[in-house]
Amino acid sequence: MAIDVETVRAETPGTANVLHFNNAGAALPPQPVMDAQVAHLEREAAIGGYEAEAEAEPQLQNTYDAIARLLGCDGNEIAIVENATRAWDMAFYAMPFEAGDRILTSRAAYASNHIACLQVAERTGADVEVVPHDDHGQIDVNALRTMMDDRVALIALTHVPTNGGLVNPAAEVGAVADDAGVPFLLDACQSAGQMPLSVDDIGCTMLSATGRKYLRGPRGTGFLYVQRDWIERLEPPLLDLHAATWTGPDTYEIQPDARRFETYEGHVAGKVGLGVAVEYALELGLGTIFERVQRLASTLRTALSDVPGVTVHDVGRTRCGITTFSAEQKDAQTIQAALRERGINVSVSTPSSTRLDAEARNLPDLIRASVHYYNTKEEVERFVTVLQRVVTE
Ligand SMILES: Cc1ncc(COP(=O)(O)O)c(C=O)c1O
Repeated sequence: MAIDVETVRAETPGTANVLHFNNAGAALPPQPVMDAQVAHLEREAAIGGYEAEAEAEPQLQNTYDAIARLLGCDGNEIAIVENATRAWDMAFYAMPFEAGDRILTSRAAYASNHIACLQVAERTGADVEVVPHDDHGQIDVNALRTMMDDRVALIALTHVPTNGGLVNPAAEVGAVADDAGVPFLLDACQSAGQMPLSVDDIGCTMLSATGRKYLRGPRGTGFLYVQRDWIERLEPPLLDLHAATWTGPDTYEIQPDARRFETYEGHVAGKVGLGVAVEYALELGLGTIFERVQRLASTLRTALSDVPGVTVHDVGRTRCGITTFSAEQKDAQTIQAALRERGINVSVSTPSSTRLDAEARNLPDLIRASVHYYNTKEEVERFVTVLQRVVTE
């Protein structure tokens, strides 16, 4: 069923204040997500933080269940953490890399992930290799296939990179990983909540995501999926009394499920809100969401490419809700500030957030306009009209 845009906008108070094209930064949360968080905070103030957490146990369990439904996995395969980076790190740094191992990554890798790869390479003597891109600007799956050998210890892919419309062909990469019996870590930070994500269809061993972006959940929330067979093979790089139990003066046991990647203390109101956000997305349908997001983004791209001096820098056979562009008349930061003054939100994507891709494509600082399903065609038109004025004034 199509999305009732009027209703979702009425449930998104922020749409009355701003034209929000910064959904890949942090989307505007819907009212039920806000209500769930505020209600929990009020209970913490009224009866105490631990007591409110105990009372919220069913809602917290519901968050694991909702994420499991989103990904088509089991709740025990999910760890809830504070952001996508920590989720990715907990899986990545748990991998037992050795000298000579090969870590295969892609050109549009996210900066934090690549920095971690470089650190682990320095520490262990593993090699980090970048799989070439094809003519569409996405990971070249044939090249990846030819790179596979016994030394490949991990394939790490950014599904939707930070700086462009690209959706990498995750399921095709998953098929290569599966054929080779190599673990596959998918950074789904910007795809979660924007498009359907089935871990079985994709064939990933591990997946990381954040709450605040396309899922429209609270800031400071993220989650990690680890496939059942891999959980006990991965020793978390950090342990606490929640991830493990102190069983004797010199002994401890690590949790047998994905809770081993979590910590005891956390943002409980955020976790409750995250579950509501995931349910909200599931209710609308991820296929329906993606269809509308792609349609709006495509309209935006076409309109932007008609603006004199503006260059759209998006790539990919499949494109998503993120559009990046530059304008020859003004730098990205000046345009972002001028739009902000007019109640329009975008972000700026700098080369250091995707250095390999930015250098290969000679990208300047880019304006990133990312749409969501609650945005409208009228907002796209208004955005382009205002932008035209801003670049020429
Ligand atoms: C592709 C990608 N991966 C990971 C992250 C990190 O997410 P978080 O800020 O939740 O750690 C981002 C953030 O922008 C991102 O764009």
